[in-house]
Amino acid sequence: MLSQLPNSITSPSWWQLINWIADPIGFQHRYSQKYGDIFSMHLSGIGSYVIIGNPQAIQEIFNQDSKFDIGRGNELAKPLLGQNSLMLMDGDRHRRERKLLMPPFHGERLQAYAKQICLITNQITSQWQVGQPFVARSAMQKISLEVIVQIVFGLSEGKRYQQLKPLLTAWVDMTDSPLRSSMLFLSFLQKDWGTWTPWGRMKQRQRQVHDLLQAEIAQKRTKQDDRRGDVLSLMMAARDENGQAMSDEELTDELLTILFAGHETTATTLAWAFYQIHQHPDILEKLQQELDSLGDNHNPMEIAQLPYLTAVCQETLRMYPVIPVLFPRITKSSMKIAGYEFDAETTFMPSIYLVHYREDLYTNAEQFKPERFLERHYSAWEYLPFGGGSRRCLGYALAELEMKLVLATVLSKYKLALAEDKPVKVQRRGFTLAPVGGVRMVMTGKRSGN
Ligand code: HEM
Repeated sequence: MLSQLPNSITSPSWWQLINWIADPIGFQHRYSQKYGDIFSMHLSGIGSYVIIGNPQAIQEIFNQDSKFDIGRGNELAKPLLGQNSLMLMDGDRHRRERKLLMPPFHGERLQAYAKQICLITNQITSQWQVGQPFVARSAMQKISLEVIVQIVFGLSEGKRYQQLKPLLTAWVDMTDSPLRSSMLFLSFLQKDWGTWTPWGRMKQRQRQVHDLLQAEIAQKRTKQDDRRGDVLSLMMAARDENGQAMSDEELTDELLTILFAGHETTATTLAWAFYQIHQHPDILEKLQQELDSLGDNHNPMEIAQLPYLTAVCQETLRMYPVIPVLFPRITKSSMKIAGYEFDAETTFMPSIYLVHYREDLYTNAEQFKPERFLERHYSAWEYLPFGGGSRRCLGYALAELEMKLVLATVLSKYKLALAEDKPVKVQRRGFTLAPVGGVRMVMTGKRSGN
């Protein structure tokens, strides 16, 4: 029976921090080979974490969710999202806020969004010209931003929306490389000395986004309509047990969280899907056959049921986790996990990457093989692209639907090809991981009938 602590990386903590920022995937790969699927890392100035790539240990963690503080573990995101973000909440407050935010992202509401997603995809891709290269990730970001803005605010017109979209993109693009991302991890760089410093520029854009959101909230207050189903209206109509409504600060931080979490992630995953599909002509052909089998007058929700398309999306999410590890989970008291005895205040980081690349679960894990999802069912701790337990991604159902509809709409209409022949690598982009260069593609023609 184990009882001692898991292996700990011995290199200096400043070196671990640099490597974690620069290449979190290479970091986990290297050290898991050396130390196994549970080991500790120490990031200078940030803290110590136990990285977990063992599915049974992750099952134990998901099953004991209430024994962890998770919002507190997300402190690094506070300067970006504000202290009233769902991601930073714990306990009753987190439960209440999730209950309020869940409905617009699930169930019947999704059906209403399906047509909108196809329409937005058609509008944005209609600007593509034959022979003209484009960056798949940027095109997908335009689509996913438009989708989330429409869901959050309920409409898509007006000057404020037109200002908000480029501003949000410029803001998130400020951490588009490992070097530029380092300001999120190194507190000594977080000094607002005006717009000539990176952090100052970051803060300025954040204030501009805040101001636009505040103006939108103020305008909605003047004509509040509780029957509207958009996320902002629901949040404004909500009251706590004392009859208290959410303050403007709370509303703004929550809007920002959803806008932020809801578009970068989906756009990146879609870019990877286009990359893999166009590297494998057999997969593209199978997908097109499946889409063609639907005929012309199908309901968009039928697309979501297609088995091969579903497997392609699952395999993309397996190979390319958007975040390198799940949210940190801090133990509230001492506890046993995987036979080890951990003290209170230990922070666990379940690793999507390490689990998704286990050869005992995914043979030839480096290969893109959608069929594996048709041949086998994976449990919630063997396949966890959206995390798990009480923190499972709020927008997973929307993200899955959006991925399928965008892929189906584009692949039914256009012939595309990769514009470059070299393999696309993954790199840090803020708290997320994304393809270097964003996957350059080119439209080579339209499919017959379009
Ligand atoms: C492919 C797209 C997406 C991926 C891969 C993804 C992945 C994740 C992951 C791994 C977590 C952390 C879960 C954990 O630690 O257990 C998370 C949390 C979250 N995601 Fe997503 N996400 C995606 C899209 C979205 C969308 C479209 C939304 C929009 C609503 C969204 C909103 C959130 C929020 C608000 C949380 C925090 C939940 C909480 O703290 O309770 N995500 N997501």
